[in-house]
Amino acid sequence: MRRKLIAGNWKMNGSLAANAALLAGIKAELGEPACDVAVCAPAPYFAQCQAALSGSTIAWGGQDLSAHESGAYTGEVAASMLRDFGCQYVIVGHSERRAYHAETNELVAQKMLRALKAGLTPIVCVGETLAEREAEQTGRVVGQQIDAVLAAVDTEALANIVIAYEPVWAIGTGKTATPQMAQEVHAILRAALAAKNTAAAAGVRILYGGSMKPDNAKELLAMPDIDGGLIGGAALKAPDFLAIIRAA
Ligand code: 13P
Repeated sequence: MRRKLIAGNWKMNGSLAANAALLAGIKAELGEPACDVAVCAPAPYFAQCQAALSGSTIAWGGQDLSAHESGAYTGEVAASMLRDFGCQYVIVGHSERRAYHAETNELVAQKMLRALKAGLTPIVCVGETLAEREAEQTGRVVGQQIDAVLAAVDTEALANIVIAYEPVWAIGTGKTATPQMAQEVHAILRAALAAKNTAAAAGVRILYGGSMKPDNAKELLAMPDIDGGLIGGAALKAPDFLAIIRAA
């Protein structure tokens, strides 16, 4: 049985004051969640998350990391630095990184390995654009994205990754994949994982992301291969994030 994971991706939002209010709001109402909960913050706020969330049931993480271990890579953040601040998770290959920072499937795979080596749980994102969906290329695109990851990871490490299916056309648009549309892609991803290792595939969590909100979370999370959510906009409002956690 896969324990669901609800992870907030704050993207480039927040401030010390806004984060403090958001985290206090979540902590005040969370109780003992029936799922895993995490927030992925901008790097300057890792220390704030560590101070606010240590000892709580909420984990924290980053939104990206360098493919390099250390050295002359101005502006980059190393896996070891995330670990220094107690991060458990790191998002890898978000479509915004792929689109605006030209991240390739190969680079995403390298970043995933870097995260695993440092003991972080990578949340590896895959997903098709609207043009790709309309051209009926969804299966091919996500297949290539997942295959690049699977070619790089060994079977033991497979159990330590999380996958997130985020259709690009559903991100921040208010358009959500229907539960059936999402399930169809999650099943493709599960089958790709199973082709690598059946036992490990059964345990890997595959999250859905893309306009997941309190009013659609329950139906999405009820699908057999949807094991949680990667939440953007709704993760910035404590009541909405809490409602999605409750739905899980
Ligand atoms: P929204 O929930 O704002 O659509 O963002 C989804 C996302 O990109 C999470 O990584």
